[in-house]
Amino acid sequence: MNRKTIRYKSIDKRVLTEGEQLNFQLYIPNETKSIMGLFLQSDTVIDGNSKVRLREVEKLYINEKDALHYEAYVQKHIQTIALSEEIPLDDKAIIVYEKASSVIDEMFRNPESLEMAKNIKPVVDSFVNIILHDAKAVESLLKITAHDYYTHTHSINVSIYTLSLGSFLGIEGEDLKTLGMAAVLHDIGKSKVDYNIINKNGKLTEVEFNEMKTHPAEGHTIALKLGINDERILSGIRHHHEKMDGGGYPDKITEDKISEFARIIGVCDVFDALSTKRSYKDPMSSFESLRLMKQQMQGHLDMILVDAFIKMLQKQESKK
Ligand SMILES: [Fe+2]
Repeated sequence: MNRKTIRYKSIDKRVLTEGEQLNFQLYIPNETKSIMGLFLQSDTVIDGNSKVRLREVEKLYINEKDALHYEAYVQKHIQTIALSEEIPLDDKAIIVYEKASSVIDEMFRNPESLEMAKNIKPVVDSFVNIILHDAKAVESLLKITAHDYYTHTHSINVSIYTLSLGSFLGIEGEDLKTLGMAAVLHDIGKSKVDYNIINKNGKLTEVEFNEMKTHPAEGHTIALKLGINDERILSGIRHHHEKMDGGGYPDKITEDKISEFARIIGVCDVFDALSTKRSYKDPMSSFESLRLMKQQMQGHLDMILVDAFIKMLQKQESKK
């Protein structure tokens, strides 16, 4: 192949995990920086020696055609990366957030693919690992929640808020991971709603809103197809738009008939919807969003959870 046609992509060398084999070649620019030289072969197992050599390298590249291999590698080692002592917390949060973003984007494109669904759990687990491992992790994660609305960024933001609130409420370990799965998947049913309705630049008509309202039940069906049988995940998906006074959908259930997971996700979902920019509305500040939730959503949200959410955010603010 003609050398000039090869394109290179810079990568984050800190994701390279000791004891694991690469499945892509690594390159560094040569002294004149005009040409790339091979640094490590694709079957190299990263050992202490290579770590020392890597420390001396400023920038590391892969051949762009290996980008998918690199993505798969990061995916495979995401939990090790989340626990790495070498990577500062804010950077880890960004690496995990970016990985989550691409995995969840893929999941919305192929909502019924078991292969895609399998990729979700390690990503959720790495969020939880970061949160459980470091008291300041919630702050790092909250800092990077995206402020523009896309279905996949909304799903990650809601997951971060949900895990932060869940952890604040004392939910831990496997229960917290299960709560995270419910939050990541809560809007998966939107993959069955017309794209033009999801991305409409303005208020929905009644007909459109009725179609939008099918997404919790659609999501529940998708989750069952994926083999998910944990009732807490299923109810988190199906009931995140139920209201305490029975005015929600799809089942019009009330108060404690709505599971705790669904009530937690409901609060975080509303907060993200209000505080995120949409093409047809400016974002509200966190303060305005919380005030609106407190003053105008009494019959809608679980106010005990809204108060806990406010306390959780205040605790993060006071750490800054
Ligand atoms: Fe929803």
